[in-house]
Amino acid sequence: MDKSPLTIAIDGPAASGKGTLSRRLAAHYGLRHLDTGLTYRAVAKAMIDRDASLDDEDAALDAARTLDLSAMDRTILSAHGVGEAASRVAVMPAVRRELVERQRTFANKGHGAVLDGRDIGTVVLPDADVKLYVTASAEIRAERRYHEILRNGGEAREADILADIKRRDERDMGRSDSPLRPAEDAHLLDTSEMGIEAAFNAARLLINGKRSA
Ligand code: C5P
Repeated sequence: MDKSPLTIAIDGPAASGKGTLSRRLAAHYGLRHLDTGLTYRAVAKAMIDRDASLDDEDAALDAARTLDLSAMDRTILSAHGVGEAASRVAVMPAVRRELVERQRTFANKGHGAVLDGRDIGTVVLPDADVKLYVTASAEIRAERRYHEILRNGGEAREADILADIKRRDERDMGRSDSPLRPAEDAHLLDTSEMGIEAAFNAARLLINGKRSA
């Protein structure tokens, strides 16, 4: 396999399938992976645990500065409510500056990496070798998230999940600092009618094509 450094930026809205795809690609190419959504989630969770208001910028910045990337627990942080809280702290420019710095350090430390989030191709790694923008309709994303919650033993109403997803999209796409949007040189991957296997194969073909070019 080609061993030259490879940085892959994967962006997209909540529940688009970008996380699963990123993990698959990282395993396939032997790259380290950072789910940057977890960094915003960890800041939000620290604030919830401290009973701080989610609008408290000083508390959020403090949580971002003291965040230990190696101690982020995906199971705890993946709770639906933490994602909603994360999108509120993610509008704060000082928090973003701090977390983006940490994310870049992670990406530049080793022999390439896969980062996924909302602003990887546009802000965090504008020079990434390959950029993917993974999307799917809000209805399909809500359905996936709903089944994921049930599989994990939780309870939810699909209509509530859909409303949350739409609200989160609006917040992520409408914020003034680093809004969610595809980078100009990103490849769009619509997973509405595509399983993870098909998405993985499409991404792999793109990446291999780029590498051999
Ligand atoms: O991807 P995930 O759903 O875990 O992200 C949670 C929230 O963190 C997003 O809704 C978004 O507001 C924020 N986020 C961000 N920039 C990133 C990754 C996540 O603003 N690079």
